[in-house]
Amino acid sequence: MKKIVALILATLMMASAAVGCSSTTTESKAASAESKAAESAAASTAAAGDVNVGVCIYKFDDTFMTGVRNNMTAQAGTLGAKLDIVDSQNKQPTQNEQVDTFITKGVTALAINPVDRTAAAPLLEKAKAANLPIVFLNREPEADVMKSYDKVWYVGAKAEQSGTMSGEIIADYFKANKSADKNGDGKIQYVMLQGEPGHQDATLRTQYSVEAIKKAGFEPVKLAADTAMWDKVKATDLMNTFISSQGLDKIEAVLANNDDMALGAIEALKAQGYNKGDKTKYIPVVGVDATAPALAAMADGSMLGTVLNDGENQGKATVNIAVAAAQGKEITKDAVGYEITDGKYVWIPYVKVTTENYKQFQK
Ligand code: GAL
Ligand code: CA
Repeated sequence: MKKIVALILATLMMASAAVGCSSTTTESKAASAESKAAESAAASTAAAGDVNVGVCIYKFDDTFMTGVRNNMTAQAGTLGAKLDIVDSQNKQPTQNEQVDTFITKGVTALAINPVDRTAAAPLLEKAKAANLPIVFLNREPEADVMKSYDKVWYVGAKAEQSGTMSGEIIADYFKANKSADKNGDGKIQYVMLQGEPGHQDATLRTQYSVEAIKKAGFEPVKLAADTAMWDKVKATDLMNTFISSQGLDKIEAVLANNDDMALGAIEALKAQGYNKGDKTKYIPVVGVDATAPALAAMADGSMLGTVLNDGENQGKATVNIAVAAAQGKEITKDAVGYEITDGKYVWIPYVKVTTENYKQFQK
């Protein structure tokens, strides 16, 4: 009798276990189908709130890139996406490690301002191995690197355009002011303060500013040229070197690849009593970026002109692409608000900033 009861009990238990089990299986199948649906929906339209972009800036201590960085933060706030921004301290190995850390942490996109634009390939390979979208900005990777992955984009500006504009500003000044040609030889004796060697903006701004002077009908004569690494303090030193090697009265124009260096050169000129209001002691200086201090120098008359390097739109475009790509969206003008060239490039236009229009760029 006991045996029979035990047997019945055991059978009942097995049956109920089987029922329980099968119902669990059905439930979990349903649940997993649901989560799969959710996952695939997420893949096409993930919420911006789930996006986490790992951002490396080549160095925080750079005036123009600080503006870009602040605009990136603001745009991420607008979209409701998370940005994790780190300072690569001008060291490529540091940046490579930062990218590894971002990937380990599980970011959903990368936005990288490379320290060395010719060393972008290993960064792209890391993104590719993790199947992450990667947006480079401000320092353009080589074309073959850009072609090697379908989830890489570049946001920047056409350096040659800024070079041309800065050269035109100088040429226009010489057309309007005959006495600017101090030795009266019809040529423009200039010194050039260059950005970081190898940076597309340094090479092309140098080249195209001189081209523009020629196109305007002047013969440019290079007295001296060297790098001041985008840096104001280094530019003051370099300008002092130029002044002592060339003589202040021989220099007719100062071309700088960016505003910080233009302002550094102006410091050196001011120390000699130049560009302080006395019209007989003035040398035209041009830069690029249209930073707030450069616009202030235009307002006080110590700087002739600059070119707007539109950090606001560069920052916005970078974040829009990184977020849309992380959401699994196709990168089109509709999705990101900026024209996409060759499926990979966003080119933000430069704008010439002269005494006539500089006020409209002051914030
Ligand atoms: C340039 C800018 C420079 C410097 C550099 C950094 O576009 O004009 O001021 O910020 O980028 O890569
Ligand atoms: Ca001359």
